Parts: sequence; C-alpha cells; structure tokens
Amino acid sequence: MKALILVGGFGTRLRPLTLSVPKPLVEFANKPMILHQIEALKAVGVNEVVLAINYQPEVMLNFLKDFETNLGIKITCSQETEPLGTAGPLALAREKLIDDSGEPFFVLNSDVISEYPFQQMIEFHKAHGGEASIMVTKVDEPSKYGVVVTEESTGKVEKFVEKPKIFVGNKINAGIYLLNPSVLDRIELRPTSIEKEVFPKIAAEAKLFAMVLPGFWMDIGQPRDYITGLRLYLDSLRKKSSSKLAVGPNIVGNVLVHESAQIGEGCLIGPDVAIGPGCIVESGVRLSRCTVMRGVRIKKHSCISSSIIGWHSTVGQWARVENMTILGEDVHVCDEIYSNGGVVLPHKEIKSSILKPEIVM
Ligand code: GDD
Ligand code: MG
Repeated sequence: MKALILVGGFGTRLRPLTLSVPKPLVEFANKPMILHQIEALKAVGVNEVVLAINYQPEVMLNFLKDFETNLGIKITCSQETEPLGTAGPLALAREKLIDDSGEPFFVLNSDVISEYPFQQMIEFHKAHGGEASIMVTKVDEPSKYGVVVTEESTGKVEKFVEKPKIFVGNKINAGIYLLNPSVLDRIELRPTSIEKEVFPKIAAEAKLFAMVLPGFWMDIGQPRDYITGLRLYLDSLRKKSSSKLAVGPNIVGNVLVHESAQIGEGCLIGPDVAIGPGCIVESGVRLSRCTVMRGVRIKKHSCISSSIIGWHSTVGQWARVENMTILGEDVHVCDEIYSNGGVVLPHKEIKSSILKPEIVM
C-alpha cells in the first residue's frame, strides 16, 4: 500500500521553529511530527510514502534516509515548482500512487496528530464500498476546519464545507483520507483544493464516507494547539500505561524525559512536559506544559510553563518563561529575565524582559 503526506507550506504559524527545520521535522513528544505518521503507516503495511513538498526537499530526504532503512519503508519526494494546494500534489504524484494492485492509498495532512487507526479505516473503506473515506472528529470551534455533515447510520457524507462562516456542524475533517485510485481522475494538475473542489463533488455522488476517529486528535500547526496536542498525546500514552512516561518523586502528571537528558536535584517537572535528548535541567527548576527541544540547558531555579524552548537554547537562572513563549533555535535568555509570550527568532540573546506577547527579531 502507498501513502502521500501533504508536507507543503512554509509552516509560518509555527515560526520561529520552522525557520530552522521544515514543519514536519519539528519534534513533537521527542519525535519529528512526520515520523509519528510514517511509523503508523508502516504498521498497517504501507511500503511507500510519497512526501508532497514544495520547499527544502533535500533537508527532508537527508533526514529521513536513516529511517527509510531502519523502518524498511521507501520514502520519496514529489516536488512542486509552485504550491499546488491540497489536491494538485496528488495529480503531480499520480504515477507514484497508482500501481497494478488497484488498492486505495492514504493521504495525510502532515500537521495532525492522533492515534492513527489506519487498520480500522481500511476495514471501514472496504465495508462501505464508496470511492473515498475520510476521518472526522468533533471540535468546539469548527470554523477553522473543514466541516463534514454525515448520515448518522452509514457515515455517508452529505455535505463538506471548508472553513464555514456560519455553523454547519461540529464534526470536522481530521486530514486523514483513504482514496481509491479513481479519485485521481477527478483532479487536474493545477493549484487546487481537495476540500473545496474534490470532496464536495464525491459527496454529491454519494461516494464519500466519514468515519469518526476514535481517541484524540489535534492540528498542531500553531503553538497553542501544539501544546494542547502534547497534553492529549501524553494522556493517551497514560491510558495505554506506556512505559515511556517518566516516574519519580519530582514528576507530576504525564512527562517524557529523553534517556540522555539530565535532571538536577529538587526540580518539579510536569504535567505535560517533553524534554528532548541531551538537555540539562539544573537543580530547582519548575517545568509545566512545555516542550524542551534537543540540547537545551535550563539553569537553576528557573520556571517555564506553557512554552516551547527551541534546540540548543539556554534559559538563565531564576528566569521565568511563560504564556506561549516560543524560543527559536539557539536563543539565550539571560539570568532573571521574564518572558510573557515572547516569540524569539533563532540565535538571539534576551537581555531584558519581554513583558507582553511580542515577536523579538
Ligand atoms: N504539497 C503541498 N502543497 N502541501 C500543502 C500545500 C501545497 O501547496 N498547501 C498546504 N499543504 C499541506 C500542509 O502542509 C498541511 O499538511 C496540509 O496540506 C493542510 O494544509 P493546512 O494549511 O494545514 O490546512 P488547514 O489546517 O487550514 O486545514 C486543513 O486541515 C484541517 C485539519 O487540520 C483542511 O484539510 C481542513 O479541512 C481540515 O479540517
Ligand atoms: Mg493545518
């Protein structure tokens, strides 16, 4: 089986992290976002993943080379010379996606995180016999997503409305599809949207079916949602009694600590924290609801909450970093600094406090 992951876009909403690496390579719970997806695809028998990409394909391919061999899966890029939207890339990759088997293929948005019940999706797809299956999930604020109205008993999609201005329903497109090769015949090679131009047509022919995604789901393409997504993900690890979660007297709630990270005396870590490889957390530090990327040093008695600390940054002693502060790669926050929602570009030194949410260039 094959899969295509929509990797395009510049990931502007996740800057400054995406100034250093393409969005799909930003770690989530100590693993690049895209690897969560590739591993889950491999587990249901996908043997080739096509990355539909419109910039920096070399960075992606170099990075994924090791995983190709380790996981035993073929990973190729299909590169656009202009952004083709969410459907155009399928037309571009047409030859890679179809083979003699006639099997359906998966398509994923690269910025969604969930438990990826792909096996159940395959069974659902076979059972309804339509042309396309999509996963849906319920959210409180449907207007920023594609809203899907279904026939309750069968899952047949009656309506698909991308980013509706008026309320249509609260079930939304989760960005996970299983499509018959015939769907490719509906897509022209030009910038076009699968949500606006393809799904409504398949729905009108009563060949589009939606399955409610069991478990959690989050689009982690924005910092606030990324932090919420980590909480949901760690919660699901807890439900599975995962041995990956840290235990100890200084741990509160769900926490991931990479085996190569060092945690000092008298720290209090958690809930909902991920600490990456090689990090040094000195004594008396307080961390909650945050992600600390590879190689970060957090000095004594600092306090970090609801924030993301980019690769190889340092946070000085007695510093207080909170409220969606996002530090890019290699940022240095001096001792005793306060950051309230600072979004700091890579390689900066922060010598004075950031009192209200702002971008520091
Ligand atoms: N290759 C390629 N080329 N990929 C693209 C392009 C492009 O021109 N434009 C967007 N993508 C990729 C993005 O990288 C992302 O993985 C996916 O397509 C969806 O684009 P987003 O920009 O993240 O869309 P969204 O979050 O506003 O809405 C989409 O996702 C929601 C779920 O998170 C839609 O599919 C909604 O219907 C859906 O509810
Ligand atoms: Mg998105």
